[in-house]
Amino acid sequence: MFRDFVVDKIVRENASIKSFYLKRANQEALERYLPGQYVTLKLKLANQQKEYTRNYTLSDSPGLGSFRLTIKREERGEVSRYLHDELKEGDCLEVSKPVGDFHLVMNNSRPVVLLSGGVGITPMLSILEYLVNYEQDRAVYFIHSSTSKTVQPMLKRLLALDATHKNLFLSIHHSQPASDEQKNEDYHQEGRIDKAFLQSALPIKEMDCFLCGPVGFMEDMYLHLRALGVEEDQISYEFFGGGKKLGNLADSSGSNDNSNTFNVLFTKSNKETQWDGSQLSLLDLAEAEGLTPDFSCRMGTCSTCETSLLSGKTEYDPEPFMETSEDKIFICCSKPVSDIEIDL
Ligand SMILES: Cc1cc2nc3c(=O)[nH]c(=O)nc-3n(C[C@H](O)[C@H](O)[C@H](O)COP(=O)(O)OP(=O)(O)OC[C@H]3O[C@@H](n4cnc5c(N)ncnc54)[C@H](O)[C@@H]3O)c2cc1C
Ligand code: FES
Repeated sequence: MFRDFVVDKIVRENASIKSFYLKRANQEALERYLPGQYVTLKLKLANQQKEYTRNYTLSDSPGLGSFRLTIKREERGEVSRYLHDELKEGDCLEVSKPVGDFHLVMNNSRPVVLLSGGVGITPMLSILEYLVNYEQDRAVYFIHSSTSKTVQPMLKRLLALDATHKNLFLSIHHSQPASDEQKNEDYHQEGRIDKAFLQSALPIKEMDCFLCGPVGFMEDMYLHLRALGVEEDQISYEFFGGGKKLGNLADSSGSNDNSNTFNVLFTKSNKETQWDGSQLSLLDLAEAEGLTPDFSCRMGTCSTCETSLLSGKTEYDPEPFMETSEDKIFICCSKPVSDIEIDL
């Protein structure tokens, strides 16, 4: 599943974000991917035995000579700090095939709305670059929120596309613009993206909307869009970790199935609790009990949360992309279907 890649080029985008351009080590051509998809990196950090896997979106148009990953350095993040501080041009990385359900439906005439915050911009960049290369007639609304110019990724490129691409509507929102920032040069709107702005700027009824960013940003945007009458199936979203289902936010009826309750024993911590269907996964249940299991993606794509199932049965919802070792489960996307004991 993993192939050897070489880091061809590293470009600093701003104080905390770098882009990494990757090519196949054996010079083979790269497969085409759908704009919005991601790859998984597998790597060992210096002086550590443990293997880490992390997902990173392909941030450029498909069909180019390299994969571009655009990565934010998390102050306390294990892998992103390594990639920023240690990885050099010419180094090797193990990279999966591109995967993911969060992608543009191509060759369709519906307007596309790309709504992102912070480093959640990466899938939107890929979709935008694809549209300006291959579907120029399709209307695209690119709306991005960050604090200020210092942390705004790819501003120059976005402004250049805005100047040349007649079907692009670009709106950059800075919640705290610096004193030297110029409106309409460094940003378009001061403050957060609000419901009134979305209502005035977007073709609410016809659009396909893509959403990615910090959890709070996504929850706010989702609730604004739904309140404006945007249907659930018009909104696609992706969490970079830590997110839950946004559909539940707008559903006050509590649609989880509470009919089955099961005992769950966390053996290492000797905590026993009940699964009543009100949590989305065993990871959520463990956290609600005050445990702090390792996780990264929370969607079955990185294997960080792999845990031994000591007894009982579970099922996946959603199905994970990775395979587990024998008798292990990914707790981020598992639910019990009997009383269980897990090694946590
Ligand atoms: C589908 C998908 C696509 C993604 N695409 C991108 C992308 O294009 N670009 C990108 O930058 N990221 C992307 N991510 C996120 C990425 O996979 C990693 O989760 C991210 O780089 C952080 O990994 P890390 O190992 O550096 O942090 P981890 O070590 O996993 O830490 C995660 C977070 O917890 C915080 N943390 C760590 N230790 C502590 C502590 N002791 N106390 C408090 N907080 C702590 C860190 O600051 C960090 O914010 C994507 C994720 C998914 C699921
Ligand atoms: S946290 Fe990534 S597979 Fe569970």
